Amino acid sequence: MKVFSVFFFLLATVVAASHGSQDSSDSSCLSWRFAVEANNIRGWKTVPKECEKYVGHYMLGYQYRKDSKAVTDEAWRYVNSLKLPRDGRNIWIFDVDETSISHVPFFSKHGFGTEPINKTLAYEWVNKSKAPALPESLELYRKLLSLGIKVVFLTGRDEEWRKVSATNLKNVGYHTWEQLILRASSYPTNATVESFKSNEKRKLEEIYGYRIIGNIGDQWADIQGIHRGNRTFKLPNPMYYAP
Ligand SMILES: *[C@@H]1O[C@H](CO)[C@@H](O)[C@H](O)[C@H]1NC(C)=O
Ligand SMILES: *[C@@H]1O[C@H](CO)[C@@H](O)[C@H](O)[C@H]1NC(C)=O
Ligand SMILES: *[C@@H]1O[C@H](CO)[C@@H](O)[C@H](O)[C@H]1NC(C)=O
Ligand SMILES: *[C@@H]1O[C@H](CO)[C@@H](O)[C@H](O)[C@H]1NC(C)=O
Ligand SMILES: [Mg+2]
Repeated sequence: MKVFSVFFFLLATVVAASHGSQDSSDSSCLSWRFAVEANNIRGWKTVPKECEKYVGHYMLGYQYRKDSKAVTDEAWRYVNSLKLPRDGRNIWIFDVDETSISHVPFFSKHGFGTEPINKTLAYEWVNKSKAPALPESLELYRKLLSLGIKVVFLTGRDEEWRKVSATNLKNVGYHTWEQLILRASSYPTNATVESFKSNEKRKLEEIYGYRIIGNIGDQWADIQGIHRGNRTFKLPNPMYYAP
Protein backbone atom coordinates (compact mmCIF):
# COMPACT_ATOMS: atom_id res chain seq x y z
CA MET A 1 0.00 0.00 0.00
CA LYS A 2 2.64 2.40 1.11
CA VAL A 3 4.67 1.66 -2.00
CA PHE A 4 1.70 2.44 -4.22
CA SER A 5 0.80 5.64 -2.50
CA VAL A 6 4.40 6.83 -2.81
CA PHE A 7 4.30 5.85 -6.48
CA PHE A 8 1.08 7.75 -7.10
CA PHE A 9 2.39 10.73 -5.21
CA LEU A 10 5.48 10.74 -7.45
CA LEU A 11 3.41 10.22 -10.59
CA ALA A 12 1.07 13.06 -9.66
CA THR A 13 4.06 15.31 -8.98
CA VAL A 14 5.68 14.49 -12.33
CA VAL A 15 2.40 15.04 -14.21
CA ALA A 16 1.74 18.30 -12.40
CA ALA A 17 5.28 19.48 -13.07
CA SER A 18 5.21 18.71 -16.79
CA HIS A 19 1.72 20.15 -17.10
CA GLY A 20 2.87 23.21 -15.18
CA SER A 21 5.87 23.82 -17.42
CA GLN A 22 3.70 23.43 -20.54
CA ASP A 23 1.26 25.99 -19.17
CA SER A 24 3.95 28.39 -18.12
CA SER A 25 5.62 28.33 -21.56
CA ASP A 26 2.25 28.85 -23.32
CA SER A 27 1.21 31.60 -20.94
CA SER A 28 4.59 33.35 -21.31
CA CYS A 29 4.16 33.22 -25.09
CA LEU A 30 0.62 34.53 -24.75
CA SER A 31 1.94 37.40 -22.64
CA TRP A 32 4.60 38.06 -25.26
CA ARG A 33 2.00 38.07 -28.05
CA PHE A 34 -0.28 40.36 -26.07
CA ALA A 35 2.56 42.82 -25.45
CA VAL A 36 3.43 42.72 -29.15
CA GLU A 37 -0.18 43.39 -30.17
CA ALA A 38 -0.47 46.27 -27.71
CA ASN A 39 2.74 47.78 -29.19
CA ASN A 40 4.54 47.53 -25.86
CA ILE A 41 7.25 45.31 -27.34
CA ARG A 42 8.62 47.04 -30.43
CA GLY A 43 11.44 46.53 -32.90
CA TRP A 44 11.64 42.79 -32.29
CA LYS A 45 13.56 40.82 -34.91
CA THR A 46 12.25 37.27 -34.45
CA VAL A 47 9.67 35.36 -32.42
CA PRO A 48 11.23 33.87 -29.24
CA LYS A 49 12.43 30.37 -30.12
CA GLU A 50 10.37 28.76 -27.34
CA CYS A 51 7.19 30.27 -28.83
CA GLU A 52 7.40 28.56 -32.23
CA LYS A 53 4.73 25.97 -31.36
CA TYR A 54 2.56 28.51 -29.62
CA VAL A 55 2.60 30.93 -32.56
CA GLY A 56 2.11 28.03 -35.00
CA HIS A 57 -0.97 26.83 -33.15
CA TYR A 58 -2.27 30.37 -32.91
CA MET A 59 -1.87 31.10 -36.63
CA LEU A 60 -3.22 27.75 -37.86
CA GLY A 61 -5.95 27.35 -35.28
CA TYR A 62 -9.24 29.10 -34.75
CA GLN A 63 -7.95 31.89 -32.47
CA TYR A 64 -6.20 33.91 -35.20
CA ARG A 65 -9.35 33.78 -37.30
CA LYS A 66 -11.55 34.76 -34.37
CA ASP A 67 -9.26 37.62 -33.40
CA SER A 68 -9.26 38.84 -37.00
CA LYS A 69 -13.05 38.61 -37.15
CA ALA A 70 -13.37 40.66 -33.96
CA VAL A 71 -11.41 43.41 -35.73
CA THR A 72 -13.26 43.34 -39.06
CA ASP A 73 -16.67 43.03 -37.38
CA GLU A 74 -15.90 46.17 -35.40
CA ALA A 75 -14.71 47.94 -38.56
CA TRP A 76 -18.00 47.07 -40.23
CA ARG A 77 -20.07 48.19 -37.22
CA TYR A 78 -18.26 51.52 -37.32
CA VAL A 79 -18.47 52.19 -41.03
CA ASN A 80 -22.04 50.98 -41.41
CA SER A 81 -23.15 53.49 -38.78
CA LEU A 82 -21.79 56.50 -40.68
CA LYS A 83 -23.85 58.80 -42.85
CA LEU A 84 -21.27 59.45 -45.52
CA PRO A 85 -21.61 62.04 -48.25
CA ARG A 86 -22.08 60.23 -51.57
CA ASP A 87 -19.46 62.24 -53.40
CA GLY A 88 -17.09 59.41 -54.36
CA ARG A 89 -14.36 60.69 -52.07
CA ASN A 90 -14.63 58.11 -49.29
CA ILE A 91 -11.76 55.63 -49.20
CA TRP A 92 -10.62 52.79 -47.00
CA ILE A 93 -6.94 51.86 -46.78
CA PHE A 94 -5.94 48.20 -46.78
CA ASP A 95 -2.41 47.05 -46.13
CA VAL A 96 -1.45 44.03 -48.27
CA ASP A 97 0.74 41.47 -46.46
CA GLU A 98 -0.89 39.78 -43.44
CA THR A 99 -3.89 42.07 -43.94
CA SER A 100 -5.38 41.40 -47.37
CA ILE A 101 -3.35 38.28 -48.13
CA SER A 102 -1.59 35.80 -45.88
CA HIS A 103 1.93 34.39 -45.81
CA VAL A 104 1.14 31.68 -43.30
CA PRO A 105 1.89 29.00 -45.95
CA PHE A 106 5.44 30.41 -46.16
CA PHE A 107 6.00 30.99 -42.44
CA SER A 108 4.66 27.56 -41.52
CA LYS A 109 7.67 26.10 -43.37
CA HIS A 110 10.13 28.49 -41.72
CA GLY A 111 9.55 28.37 -37.99
CA PHE A 112 6.63 30.83 -37.75
CA GLY A 113 8.89 33.85 -37.44
CA THR A 114 11.48 32.29 -35.10
CA GLU A 115 14.04 32.31 -37.93
CA PRO A 116 15.22 35.49 -39.67
CA ILE A 117 13.38 35.77 -43.01
CA ASN A 118 15.43 34.31 -45.86
CA LYS A 119 14.90 36.95 -48.54
CA THR A 120 15.73 34.65 -51.44
CA LEU A 121 13.06 32.15 -50.38
CA ALA A 122 10.56 34.84 -49.37
CA TYR A 123 10.88 36.62 -52.74
CA GLU A 124 10.47 33.30 -54.53
CA TRP A 125 7.24 32.69 -52.61
CA VAL A 126 5.87 36.22 -53.12
CA ASN A 127 6.77 36.00 -56.80
CA LYS A 128 4.34 33.09 -57.22
CA SER A 129 1.32 35.35 -56.39
CA LYS A 130 -0.13 32.38 -54.50
CA ALA A 131 -0.75 33.93 -51.07
CA PRO A 132 -4.34 33.19 -49.96
CA ALA A 133 -6.74 35.92 -48.84
CA LEU A 134 -7.45 36.60 -45.20
CA PRO A 135 -11.13 35.65 -45.37
CA GLU A 136 -12.22 38.23 -42.78
CA SER A 137 -10.50 41.08 -44.65
CA LEU A 138 -11.94 39.95 -47.97
CA GLU A 139 -15.42 39.99 -46.47
CA LEU A 140 -14.87 43.52 -45.11
CA TYR A 141 -13.56 44.59 -48.54
CA ARG A 142 -16.75 43.32 -50.23
CA LYS A 143 -18.99 45.04 -47.70
CA LEU A 144 -17.14 48.35 -48.06
CA LEU A 145 -17.54 48.26 -51.83
CA SER A 146 -21.26 47.59 -51.36
CA LEU A 147 -21.45 50.83 -49.37
CA GLY A 148 -19.80 52.73 -52.22
CA ILE A 149 -16.51 53.17 -50.37
CA LYS A 150 -13.44 52.97 -52.57
CA VAL A 151 -10.50 50.80 -51.61
CA VAL A 152 -6.85 51.81 -51.72
CA PHE A 153 -4.16 49.18 -51.18
CA LEU A 154 -1.07 50.71 -49.60
CA THR A 155 1.95 48.44 -49.20
CA GLY A 156 5.61 48.78 -48.29
CA ARG A 157 6.41 46.35 -51.11
CA ASP A 158 8.76 47.85 -53.72
CA GLU A 159 7.30 49.15 -56.98
CA GLU A 160 8.93 46.29 -58.92
CA TRP A 161 6.40 43.93 -57.28
CA ARG A 162 3.38 45.74 -58.75
CA LYS A 163 2.41 43.09 -61.29
CA VAL A 164 2.95 40.21 -58.87
CA SER A 165 0.96 42.02 -56.17
CA ALA A 166 -1.92 42.94 -58.46
CA THR A 167 -2.10 39.38 -59.79
CA ASN A 168 -2.17 37.92 -56.29
CA LEU A 169 -4.87 40.33 -55.08
CA LYS A 170 -7.05 39.62 -58.12
CA ASN A 171 -6.50 35.86 -57.90
CA VAL A 172 -7.99 35.71 -54.42
CA GLY A 173 -10.98 38.01 -54.96
CA TYR A 174 -9.86 41.63 -54.59
CA HIS A 175 -11.08 42.42 -58.09
CA THR A 176 -11.01 46.21 -58.05
CA TRP A 177 -9.35 49.16 -56.36
CA GLU A 178 -9.03 52.90 -56.62
CA GLN A 179 -5.25 52.82 -56.23
CA LEU A 180 -2.56 50.26 -55.51
CA ILE A 181 0.34 52.14 -53.95
CA LEU A 182 3.77 50.53 -53.66
CA ARG A 183 7.04 51.99 -52.55
CA ALA A 184 8.71 53.81 -55.46
CA SER A 185 12.42 53.18 -55.99
CA SER A 186 12.95 56.95 -55.71
CA TYR A 187 11.72 56.81 -52.10
CA PRO A 188 14.55 57.12 -49.51
CA THR A 189 15.63 53.57 -48.63
CA ASN A 190 16.18 54.51 -45.00
CA ALA A 191 12.61 55.80 -44.55
CA THR A 192 10.47 53.72 -42.18
CA VAL A 193 7.24 52.03 -43.26
CA GLU A 194 5.41 54.50 -41.03
CA SER A 195 6.90 57.58 -42.69
CA PHE A 196 6.40 56.16 -46.20
CA LYS A 197 2.78 55.28 -45.51
CA SER A 198 2.02 58.54 -43.72
CA ASN A 199 3.37 60.48 -46.66
CA GLU A 200 1.27 58.49 -49.15
CA LYS A 201 -1.86 58.98 -47.00
CA ARG A 202 -1.15 62.69 -46.83
CA LYS A 203 -1.04 62.79 -50.64
CA LEU A 204 -4.32 60.87 -50.87
CA GLU A 205 -6.05 63.50 -48.75
CA GLU A 206 -4.22 66.67 -49.72
CA ILE A 207 -3.53 66.07 -53.39
CA TYR A 208 -6.27 63.67 -54.49
CA GLY A 209 -8.92 65.04 -52.13
CA TYR A 210 -10.02 61.71 -50.69
CA ARG A 211 -11.42 61.26 -47.20
CA ILE A 212 -9.78 58.33 -45.34
CA ILE A 213 -12.73 56.78 -43.52
CA GLY A 214 -10.85 53.79 -42.20
CA ASN A 215 -7.48 52.13 -42.31
CA ILE A 216 -6.62 48.51 -41.56
CA GLY A 217 -3.24 46.83 -41.18
CA ASP A 218 -1.32 44.21 -39.22
CA GLN A 219 1.54 46.54 -38.26
CA TRP A 220 1.41 49.56 -35.99
CA ALA A 221 3.41 51.36 -38.69
CA ASP A 222 0.34 50.98 -40.95
CA ILE A 223 -1.97 52.85 -38.63
CA GLN A 224 0.19 55.42 -36.85
CA GLY A 225 1.55 58.74 -38.07
CA ILE A 226 -0.28 61.51 -39.89
CA HIS A 227 -3.42 61.21 -42.04
CA ARG A 228 -4.04 57.79 -40.51
CA GLY A 229 -7.79 57.84 -41.15
CA ASN A 230 -10.85 58.55 -39.06
CA ARG A 231 -10.54 55.14 -37.44
CA THR A 232 -7.79 52.56 -37.55
CA PHE A 233 -7.96 48.78 -37.10
CA LYS A 234 -5.09 46.54 -36.08
CA LEU A 235 -5.10 42.93 -37.21
CA PRO A 236 -3.00 40.41 -35.30
CA ASN A 237 0.48 39.43 -36.48
CA PRO A 238 2.79 37.65 -34.06
CA MET A 239 5.14 36.46 -36.88
CA TYR A 240 7.11 39.58 -37.82
CA TYR A 241 7.52 43.28 -37.05
CA ALA A 242 7.97 46.16 -39.51
CA PRO A 243 9.35 49.45 -38.16
C1 LIG B 1 18.36 31.17 -48.05
O1 LIG B 1 17.92 29.99 -48.66
C2 LIG B 1 18.73 29.58 -49.75
C3 LIG B 1 18.02 28.41 -50.45
O2 LIG B 1 17.69 27.41 -49.52
C4 LIG B 1 20.09 29.21 -49.22
O3 LIG B 1 20.92 28.81 -50.28
C5 LIG B 1 20.69 30.43 -48.51
O4 LIG B 1 21.90 30.08 -47.92
C6 LIG B 1 19.74 30.95 -47.47
N1 LIG B 1 20.26 32.22 -46.97
C7 LIG B 1 20.41 32.46 -45.68
C8 LIG B 1 20.94 33.81 -45.34
O5 LIG B 1 20.16 31.62 -44.84
C1 LIG C 1 9.83 35.94 -60.61
O1 LIG C 1 9.35 35.02 -61.60
C2 LIG C 1 9.73 35.35 -62.91
C3 LIG C 1 9.10 34.32 -63.85
O2 LIG C 1 7.72 34.32 -63.72
C4 LIG C 1 11.24 35.35 -63.04
O3 LIG C 1 11.62 35.78 -64.34
C5 LIG C 1 11.84 36.31 -62.00
O4 LIG C 1 13.24 36.22 -62.02
C6 LIG C 1 11.34 35.97 -60.61
N1 LIG C 1 11.83 36.95 -59.67
C7 LIG C 1 12.23 36.63 -58.45
C8 LIG C 1 12.69 37.75 -57.59
O5 LIG C 1 12.21 35.49 -58.02
C1 LIG D 1 18.10 59.12 -44.52
O1 LIG D 1 19.24 59.46 -45.27
C2 LIG D 1 19.32 60.85 -45.59
C3 LIG D 1 20.55 61.09 -46.45
O2 LIG D 1 20.67 60.12 -47.44
C4 LIG D 1 19.40 61.69 -44.31
O3 LIG D 1 19.40 63.06 -44.64
C5 LIG D 1 18.21 61.36 -43.43
O4 LIG D 1 18.34 62.01 -42.19
C6 LIG D 1 18.11 59.85 -43.20
N1 LIG D 1 16.89 59.58 -42.45
C7 LIG D 1 16.82 58.72 -41.46
C8 LIG D 1 15.48 58.52 -40.83
O5 LIG D 1 17.78 58.11 -41.05
C1 LIG E 1 -15.40 59.65 -37.74
O1 LIG E 1 -15.69 58.68 -36.73
C2 LIG E 1 -16.62 59.08 -35.78
C3 LIG E 1 -16.82 57.93 -34.80
O2 LIG E 1 -15.59 57.45 -34.38
C4 LIG E 1 -17.95 59.46 -36.44
O3 LIG E 1 -18.83 59.96 -35.48
C5 LIG E 1 -17.69 60.49 -37.53
O4 LIG E 1 -18.89 60.74 -38.22
C6 LIG E 1 -16.65 60.01 -38.49
N1 LIG E 1 -16.38 61.01 -39.52
C7 LIG E 1 -16.23 60.70 -40.79
C8 LIG E 1 -15.96 61.80 -41.73
O5 LIG E 1 -16.27 59.56 -41.19
MG1 LIG F 1 1.25 44.00 -43.47
